[in-house]
Amino acid sequence: MLAGKRVLLIIGGGIAAYKVLDLIRRLRERGAEVTPVMTRAAEEFVTPLSVSALAGTEVHRDLFDLTKEAEMGHIQLSRVADLVVVAPATADLMGKMAGGLANDLASTLLMATDTPVMIVPAMNVRMWEHPATQRNLALLQGDGVTVVGPNSGDMACGEFGPGRMSEPMEIVEAITAKLSTGPLAGKRVLVTSGPTHEPIDPVRYIANRSSGAQGTAIANALRDLGAEVIFVTGPADAARPKGVTVVEVESAREMHAAVHDALPVDAGVFAAAVADWRVASASDSKIKKTAGGLPVLEFAENPDILAEVSQLATGRPGLVVGFAAETDDVVAHATAKRQRKGCDWIVANDVSPATGIMGGSENAIILISEDGAEPWERMGKDEVARRLAARIADALGSA
Ligand code: CTP
Repeated sequence: MLAGKRVLLIIGGGIAAYKVLDLIRRLRERGAEVTPVMTRAAEEFVTPLSVSALAGTEVHRDLFDLTKEAEMGHIQLSRVADLVVVAPATADLMGKMAGGLANDLASTLLMATDTPVMIVPAMNVRMWEHPATQRNLALLQGDGVTVVGPNSGDMACGEFGPGRMSEPMEIVEAITAKLSTGPLAGKRVLVTSGPTHEPIDPVRYIANRSSGAQGTAIANALRDLGAEVIFVTGPADAARPKGVTVVEVESAREMHAAVHDALPVDAGVFAAAVADWRVASASDSKIKKTAGGLPVLEFAENPDILAEVSQLATGRPGLVVGFAAETDDVVAHATAKRQRKGCDWIVANDVSPATGIMGGSENAIILISEDGAEPWERMGKDEVARRLAARIADALGSA
């Protein structure tokens, strides 16, 4: 799938650099040509000899190398690739990129390139969460840089949390998606998925039974057609899709903010089962049993994310797809919902317990659009996702 694709791989100085050796191998197995560049710090973690042996080509290391400048100047080097990948992207490299510094070969190439750039951050959790890193991340995303990971987990430094570099196969999938030439290549699509958790107090919450399976399948299917997918998910059981930008949220209000941060997009698919209400009287401390009687929860309405995005005066996605989970009069309710919320399509399904759809692996949907109601036969959620993604590609292609 990557045959003939050229990747300029900038290796930063972090412990995760060892995973890049495997990444190079896997990219080459798939037919990609990898041109490695190492920072000085990277050489503390992996040797240029290993990198060069795996890449099957020399490693570029110096900005001021007269022989290389004569053969291929650094400006040219920055432009011969289809994609520039920075892995591991350290806090330092991200800072340099965000600040526009160019004081070594890696940062100079990043400034000089006219090729899409992908970064794969890896750093200590505190460094990742530091406001400076988060600020740089936002700047880089605003500049159109694709960000892969980081994952959460145990870290080499002994701490736990986000900051671990994505695994080589996750990076390969992200690169494949980015270099895809599918019908959705160059399109940015937002998918919301999963339930939301609405806190009652710090230890209790109100939730629903959504597993996130359908939303995840849709994100995967859109990615497979070449879309850049921003996947905003509540705390769902389903494994997160690979090769897409994953934004984890808990509550409806967090989802609302994350969706707005993701705009503009070409299409939005709102598959999340967002809680309609939150607990207005949520307590900052754990509610205790008291002799005074039972606690009374007061509710407040959550923002309707789908309706709001559908009705945006400026920046509305070209196609907005909502979901309707109904238990009776499915078509009538879903048709009314489409009108009320102002979206283009509604994917309606019957979630009565007898259908086994909510939390199950199959779905039987009715696609409601301005052309009316189109029932699809019952099929796996993956197949629903593939067909829906193909329809979205058709709609965006003919828009
Ligand atoms: N949705 C949303 N934000 C909300 C509630 C719902 O974005 N606060 C989206 C869902 O992701 C879904 C669609 O709206 O795409 C339908 O949600 P649903 O809860 O079924 O609609 P309601 O308007 O709440 O209707 P009902 O009275 O059936 O609950």
